[in-house]
Amino acid sequence: MCKPTPVASTETKKTGKTRRGMSKMALYLSASFAMLVAIFPMIISELIGGWTAKYTSPVYFTPKSIPDLTGKVAIVTGANTGIGYHTALELARKNAQVIVASRNPSKGQEAITRIQEATGNHHVRFLPLDLSSLASVRSFAQAFQALQLPLDMLILNAGIMKSPGAQFIGKNMTQGFELTQDGFEVHIGVNHVGHFYLTQLLRDSLIASAPSRVVAVSSIAEQGAYQPDGFRFELWKPLNVEHATSMGYEDGMAYGQSKLANAMFAKELAEQLKEHGVTAYSCHPGVIVSELTRYLVASIEEEALQKSWWSRMYLNALGKYFELAQMKTSDGALTQLHLAVSNVSELSNGGFYHPIGKLKGSPNHAQGSNEKLRKELWRETERMIKEAGF
Ligand SMILES: NC(=O)c1ccc[n+]([C@@H]2O[C@H](COP(=O)([O-])OP(=O)(O)OC[C@H]3O[C@@H](n4cnc5c(N)ncnc54)[C@H](OP(=O)(O)O)[C@@H]3O)[C@@H](O)[C@H]2O)c1
Repeated sequence: MCKPTPVASTETKKTGKTRRGMSKMALYLSASFAMLVAIFPMIISELIGGWTAKYTSPVYFTPKSIPDLTGKVAIVTGANTGIGYHTALELARKNAQVIVASRNPSKGQEAITRIQEATGNHHVRFLPLDLSSLASVRSFAQAFQALQLPLDMLILNAGIMKSPGAQFIGKNMTQGFELTQDGFEVHIGVNHVGHFYLTQLLRDSLIASAPSRVVAVSSIAEQGAYQPDGFRFELWKPLNVEHATSMGYEDGMAYGQSKLANAMFAKELAEQLKEHGVTAYSCHPGVIVSELTRYLVASIEEEALQKSWWSRMYLNALGKYFELAQMKTSDGALTQLHLAVSNVSELSNGGFYHPIGKLKGSPNHAQGSNEKLRKELWRETERMIKEAGF
């Protein structure tokens, strides 16, 4: 008689082996997944200019690198919060006279109190500036000129982003559409036109204070400007949202267009003023946890509210996860501070920089180094400001 074959025990052995193999595999897969989840924010950070830039940039610049600025005068727009606040704070710490140029007097005053308490510098003052009104820009310039101060650093930092749009969140949005008091689409109006007009009005002060400099705060979002043209001048002063939408308006591209304008404006300004001892630079300061996304959050939440509880949780978690790739506001101020105070011989006049102080040369957008377009940008901005009665 044949002995019964020990089938069951062999199978058990085999199954046991397989289970052990599977559990090893599961362990391996979960460890790799966990590592990926942990490393992913670092990779994103490197791509967009998040916190890792502080460690990977070839330029070593910290607030301690700022020289003594006694006798120097700086205007920082949008200095009541975010990276503008930290820029004003660090300049004041090194004894510069700083003008906090903000649209909201109580927020401006509050920032000044905080800066004075932190630095002991009492030459920090507030002057009202609302970049969405050319009349306010003109009053600001007049008020500054009445102080009879030199102007060593003009830091064009204030900005508004109603939504980063399709390029970053994969969705076309027009909820952020708004017009400034002079009828400009709000992104181009505040971020570029207001700053352009301000610089024009302060041009003589900059020249008289040479060597002086202008820093325009752009963004990596410049590459999200309209394709392929970069600028859509017909969208600068549309009648209303329907009119704008019919011509292809989208919040993210409108923000991108304004940021491309910041960088190309700085380059053109550098060309025009180099004989006068005034230099100009632009930068993507990094991707920073600040109040810039306040309108985006509102528009996404508005949509999310109409979705399920699960979608809202998911969006929240995604937002928090993305913050792991971003910079603190104090680090976000470093690139513009570097451009404002480092020795000009270490900088490239008209250059576009990434964090922290990494020279990119020109913006990434295909039109970013188009000289003809740069000159057209200048002419069109001047023409539209004139047309608005200024
Ligand atoms: N955060 C980022 O990840 C990031 C990335 C790339 C580029 N940037 C650029 O960095 C700059 C500063 O942004 P942030 O992150 O510091 O943002 P933020 O915290 O929102 O600060 C923006 C500042 O601009 C001011 N502002 C807005 N509209 C204005 C107007 N009409 N007139 C005068 N001031 C106005 C704000 O004043 P209120 O407080 O009164 O609104 C605030 O002081 C912006 O130009 C932005 O485009 C930021």
